[in-house]
Amino acid sequence: MIVTTALRWACCLIVVVIRGLNGLDNGLALTPPMGWLAWQRYRCITDCETYPDDCVNEQLFMRAADLLVSEGYADLGYNYVIVDDCWLAKNRSADGKLEADKKRFPSGIKALSDYVSNREYGLKFGLYEDWGTKTCAGYPGVLGHEELDAKTFAEWDVDYVKLDGCYSNVRHMDKGYPEFGRHLNNTGRPMVYSCSWPAYQEEKGMLIDYASMAKHCNLWRNYDDIDDSWESMIKIADYFAQKQEFWAQYAGPGHWNDPDMLLIGNFGLTYDQSKTQMAIWAVLAAPLLMSNKLSEVQPQFKDILQNKEVIKVNQDNLGIQGTRVFRDKGIDIWTRKIEPFSDGYYSYAVAFVSRRVDGAPYPYNITLEDLGLKNPNGYSITNLYGKEKYPTPCIYKPNDPVKVRVIPSGVVFLRMNIDDSNQLCKDNSRSQFFK
Ligand SMILES: *[C@@H]1O[C@H](CO)[C@@H](O)[C@H](O)[C@H]1NC(C)=O
Ligand SMILES: *[C@@H]1O[C@H](CO)[C@@H](O)[C@H](O)[C@H]1NC(C)=O
Ligand SMILES: *[C@@H]1O[C@H](CO)[C@@H](O)[C@H](O)[C@H]1NC(C)=O
Repeated sequence: MIVTTALRWACCLIVVVIRGLNGLDNGLALTPPMGWLAWQRYRCITDCETYPDDCVNEQLFMRAADLLVSEGYADLGYNYVIVDDCWLAKNRSADGKLEADKKRFPSGIKALSDYVSNREYGLKFGLYEDWGTKTCAGYPGVLGHEELDAKTFAEWDVDYVKLDGCYSNVRHMDKGYPEFGRHLNNTGRPMVYSCSWPAYQEEKGMLIDYASMAKHCNLWRNYDDIDDSWESMIKIADYFAQKQEFWAQYAGPGHWNDPDMLLIGNFGLTYDQSKTQMAIWAVLAAPLLMSNKLSEVQPQFKDILQNKEVIKVNQDNLGIQGTRVFRDKGIDIWTRKIEPFSDGYYSYAVAFVSRRVDGAPYPYNITLEDLGLKNPNGYSITNLYGKEKYPTPCIYKPNDPVKVRVIPSGVVFLRMNIDDSNQLCKDNSRSQFFK
């Protein structure tokens, strides 16, 4: 008993050390950033005459800002509007400064940033660059101009910088990314700092210094870019599960692992697969960056993106990244510790994700104890995608089975709150399937 208590304390102390002392201390991204980022859906379409609604120009970001507000996203926390690659002119100006493409961004970046931040709900403005000689699409990178470029971002009232890693020496990133972070810090303007450093080192099979990552970046892309398909999305989720013992410990308020953008509302994911991405991203404490055409997102997909209970799991204040804890019969079980927390027991978000392809919804049951939920007083359960928007009226004890039916490539996503109300269930009230 004493040993267990001591271990529990030791474990908490380690968590406190990682969370408290080593994290980037710019007061930003205390919960995972939320917003809209152009890349996945719009890539580098620069021919605005042929594709006026789909090209990367200032109107694209102004429309996104307008729609985040008018469609209700901003109200729920989606507040960063982030420009990705292909905004730059091919050359720097005569005095060496970065410049936006004059045809597609005629008003300039400062004007765009003002437009975005003058919307309601405190929208914020993000901008892309690259720690290399060129951006991935071949525009000028920051290398050799780091100080000037950081100052330029501050002059333009940038709130969020995504720094990619093309055209650079991956071995120098351990020094280069923190240095750029210091230039950002020296401007005195708080800017969320999104690093791509591990994704490039991962590709080369290098050992990666995640402790340094957490100290210098607010978020970082660990792995490949996401594409608009179930295969791409689930490959990223699987890779995060495979690496979770190394990666999850470095996530916390101010510093997050980033599995890349949400695909929801685009072409590649079905309705149920979209719920699955949103659930896994919530468990992973992942940034929720949509990359879609906001004017064309169908209502049922919008409901997924705007599911308050799922967003609440993602934005949980404890900031503990969840993990995949079990794979059984084609069902992957992901859990995340969340609030409320008391007497050493956490509440949990639990996602049952089906990898099965045999048509019928698959019934599955497991006791809470086997999931690692051991609060002797028990838990009340809310089905986050269910029709009933309220918790079960009675308590599940650790040795009670929870029964779900999961459709192929779908998810059942439950919130299990520690609950001391002692409202014991009658036997039949626990026989329901969550689906
Ligand atoms: C950019 O600069 C290079 C040389 O520095 C020059 O050859 C090229 O013509 C310039 N491009 C534009 C579009 O001005
Ligand atoms: C700069 O870094 C210091 C020390 O970590 C921190 O207290 C401060 O908030 C940072 N300022 C900005 C603008 O990032
Ligand atoms: C749970 O599943 C097992 C088989 O995995 C089955 O034997 C048992 O009857 C099920 N329990 C309930 C309550 O459905």
